Amino acid sequence: MKMHHVHNYYNKTTFDQGHTHKMRGVTSYEIPTGNSHVHSYNGVTTVDRAHVHHYSGVTGPAIPLAGGGHTHEYQGPTTIDQGHCHHYKSLTGKEKATP
Ligand SMILES: [Fe+2]
Ligand SMILES: [Fe+2]
Repeated sequence: MKMHHVHNYYNKTTFDQGHTHKMRGVTSYEIPTGNSHVHSYNGVTTVDRAHVHHYSGVTGPAIPLAGGGHTHEYQGPTTIDQGHCHHYKSLTGKEKATP
């Protein structure tokens, strides 16, 4: 059976309008692109100041880690809610193999 993988991710958004939100989740399985691969992700931020934001995107290509394995950079804006949005830019966790 061919093994596939996903990545956990966790980050805080930028500080806007006096608050931040946290984002946490698991990416999609790998999506082949050229000689590398990317992952899609989407979710809802934590509740802060009585609202949430939604987000979705596609990571960059695989970035090898010195100790083995790889990570992906991901970034983007959240949706606009209550008149503002936030931005985020981070690296996913190391890959997790799944059947
Ligand atoms: Fe990956
Ligand atoms: Fe917000």
